[in-house]
Amino acid sequence: NEIYAAGLRGVLPKLPVDAATLEARAEAAMPPHVLNYVQGGCGDEATQRRNSTAFADWGMVPRMMVDTRVRDLSIELFGLTLPTPIFLSPIGVTGICTADGHGDLAAARASAATGVPMMVSTLANDPLERVAEALGDTPGFFQLYTPRHEGLTESLVARAEAAGYKGIVVTLDTWVTGWRPRDLNTGNFPQLRGAVLANYFSDPVFRSLLARPPEDDPAAAVMTWAATFGRVLTWDDMAWLRSLTSLPIILKGLCHPDDARRAIDAGADAIFCSNHGGRQANGGIAAIDMLPDVVAAAGDVPVLFDSGVRSGSDVVKALALGARAVGIGRPFVYGLALDGAEGAAHVIKCLLAEADLLMAVNGYPTLADVRAAGATRQRR
Ligand code: FNR
Repeated sequence: NEIYAAGLRGVLPKLPVDAATLEARAEAAMPPHVLNYVQGGCGDEATQRRNSTAFADWGMVPRMMVDTRVRDLSIELFGLTLPTPIFLSPIGVTGICTADGHGDLAAARASAATGVPMMVSTLANDPLERVAEALGDTPGFFQLYTPRHEGLTESLVARAEAAGYKGIVVTLDTWVTGWRPRDLNTGNFPQLRGAVLANYFSDPVFRSLLARPPEDDPAAAVMTWAATFGRVLTWDDMAWLRSLTSLPIILKGLCHPDDARRAIDAGADAIFCSNHGGRQANGGIAAIDMLPDVVAAAGDVPVLFDSGVRSGSDVVKALALGARAVGIGRPFVYGLALDGAEGAAHVIKCLLAEADLLMAVNGYPTLADVRAAGATRQRR
């Protein structure tokens, strides 16, 4: 409404309202190494492209003569009532996207302004405690990359729990970084280019491993980070992970229905169907095409989804295919890079507005109606 009303007065939105135009704007504005980091993916990026184009293979059928003047987009997750079915996916090193280096605080402010939960990366450029403060009452989830050092993992989880995070998102597909030609060709490793991994560096266990504090010797801290990063997890580790926290555990990166079943048997509280936006492995099936099978395997256990979501209609399609909540990745980071917290909030609001309008027009007053309507595979 805000944007339409402003348009009637001849006032254009500060940033584009669609992902493609926004990305084009970001391409023109972002320094190449930052753009490569955010926009780039694995191999020739075929999986990454397919993640978003595959949404066009699914279609929804509208229902008419339904009173949709009032829509309810709220969801229940782990006993929380959330106002909308979207969240900010975890994004590491967003500090390089904002002039002040505090991309995570800016994202948290966008999250707080919109009530859309944020998943905070282990590789945040701000300590998780400060991000939690900026989130205020809006729920945060902590995304865990398990370090090889067990005590460090335990410390990160304990800090997240103490800071009031509502769940631990364990990312399974990134104990090693995928083959990313854009970064490899340009020697662009944002973590090594002076981005301060303040969340990691502020950890007391991490600091105890250093001869000198990271503030005095950042290069050595980065090397210790690299040496401690990336424990390979197997199903045998689930009992240990479970023992670390009473918070819900969400396993991120599961695209195979058998893995979803196995995760639930092993005590996972939610499945996060995602292929990391095609950044980690190329040659994979679009994540949205795996979602229905994962949802069927998960039964009553909530399934979160991301990878390729670019519009409100993508959000609604993922919900129609059974996702409980849908993660926004690159688009909000472009908003962040172009206009900080306000830019990220703009992206969130546009996605929600489009989803809400789609539900209004399609005769889906609630997300239960969306789910019941479903989405069907269609020929291109
Ligand atoms: C990511 N992603 C990610 N995931 C994670 O679990 N921890 C992390 O630190 C990061 N970091 C990260 C950085 C950047 C620049 C991007 C683009 C992505 C993956 C992210 O959570 C999500 O799965 C993808 O972004 C989804 O793909 P799209 O929709 O952004 O293409």
